[in-house]
Amino acid sequence: MSVFHNYTYGADVYDQTRKAEAFEIWLGALQRFAPVPASEVRLLDAGCGTGNYAEVLHPFVRHLNGVDFNPKMLAKAKAKLSQGVEAGSITLEQGSLLSFPFEADTFDAVMINQVLHHLETGKDFARNGHRAAVNEVARVLKPGGLFMINACSHRQLRDGFWYNHLIPTALDTVCARIAPTTMFAQMLNEAGFEITARHVPLNAIMQGDAYLDISGPHRPEWRAGDSIWSLAPDKEMGGACHTLSALVSSGQAESWLATHDAPRIHVGQMTFWIAVKN
Ligand SMILES: C[S@@+](CC[C@H](N)C(=O)[O-])C[C@H]1O[C@@H](n2cnc3c(N)ncnc32)[C@H](O)[C@@H]1O
Repeated sequence: MSVFHNYTYGADVYDQTRKAEAFEIWLGALQRFAPVPASEVRLLDAGCGTGNYAEVLHPFVRHLNGVDFNPKMLAKAKAKLSQGVEAGSITLEQGSLLSFPFEADTFDAVMINQVLHHLETGKDFARNGHRAAVNEVARVLKPGGLFMINACSHRQLRDGFWYNHLIPTALDTVCARIAPTTMFAQMLNEAGFEITARHVPLNAIMQGDAYLDISGPHRPEWRAGDSIWSLAPDKEMGGACHTLSALVSSGQAESWLATHDAPRIHVGQMTFWIAVKN
């Protein structure tokens, strides 16, 4: 579960700004690296949320299992994917990435989209949470199985979002919850994965068309589209909103936004990891 972001509220508004960004990378990976033809794949969407990635990918695979900890996110996924559920090609259930409700060697492919930063276990919690999840995925994947992970790197969090520098405490906290790239690569290797590719889709934007809305941070439903806002202390949040209002009033909003969004074009917002279980 997420200990810092309220997905019970977020479930109702999540799809206003979020969709399956860059899912084509996963489709290509399924076609190229899965141990069986894509149409034979049993795919697990771990932390499936409202089912956006499941919705676009399930037509290409044999069976899709979705697991999420939050009942309301899961209910949204069930409504969205009702046809597949009724037809028996999709199964959705509550469960945690840290302890999947599945036997060993069950899946041909597992994907985790934008969930790792929500995990925690133990003292060095974020990183232990990553390790626990990676080990769980290694357990439920068949030998040769495909592991696809979509997460933000520290650099992307720092330079890929025009607003993150306005909430520095939240930014530091979310970075502390995500393993640095080299450490994550090592975790994958230690769990028995070979990293096959790492893609940064420069045109993939977390909140899609809503991302460049400078008035967005004033609205809870917009903030619910990026959980980093839940980590901002009230004072920091207020300061960010005040800065943005002042920019709009002084007519500088457009050029300020362009300047602070410029690095995203080079670093992107998300990294797509493709790994294969040895
Ligand atoms: C940012 S959303 C991503 C949802 C979906 N993967 C997507 O990309 O649209 C994060 C999701 O992770 C789920 N989550 C957080 N911790 C979890 C855990 N330990 N086990 C399963 N799901 C978890 C939340 O309930 C939420 O639905």
